[in-house]
Amino acid sequence: MKKSAIALAVLAVGTTLAFASPEDDREHLMKAMGKSMGELGKVAKGESPFEADAVLASLKALNDNASKLDVAALFPEGSASKGTSPKIWENFDDFKAHAEKLKADVAAAVAAPAADAAALGPQLGMIGKDCGGCHELYRIKKD
Ligand code: HEC
Repeated sequence: MKKSAIALAVLAVGTTLAFASPEDDREHLMKAMGKSMGELGKVAKGESPFEADAVLASLKALNDNASKLDVAALFPEGSASKGTSPKIWENFDDFKAHAEKLKADVAAAVAAPAADAAALGPQLGMIGKDCGGCHELYRIKKD
């Protein structure tokens, strides 16, 4: 019993070490969402042709990443960085609510994807506001 408990503990430490820090994980996730938003934005603006399959693929990629936006795991207390406002941890419930709204809006877009660029605009506008609304309150721009 004791031995297996130790083995489990070692395993747990090993698993933790295999992952990057929450700071790296959230940067990676945010950048990936930014990439999808960039692709979709070009289509909405008419800079890239509207192709339903490609739009849905970008929305799905965005949805995959948004669903990984577990703010408790990615923004644990004590993980402040240059880009984070201290308000995140003062208003954590509100911060979390912003993440939940993004998840809901992206999931809704995947469930009912826009049929043309004109319809994609408003759909993307709402998602973009979810990103921007959270950034305005809780992100400090590094540049
Ligand atoms: C729940 C709040 C919240 C939501 C929603 C949110 N972000 Fe962020 N985002 C942040 C915070 C906070 C940072 C700064 C993190 C840091 O610097 O440690 C950030 C950073 C970023 C960065 C910079 C990453 C880097 O370090 O280079 C990008 C790009 C980004 N977000 C894109 C997006 C996009 C696109 C969306 C919407 C699809 C989005 N974010 C939604 C809170 C949010």
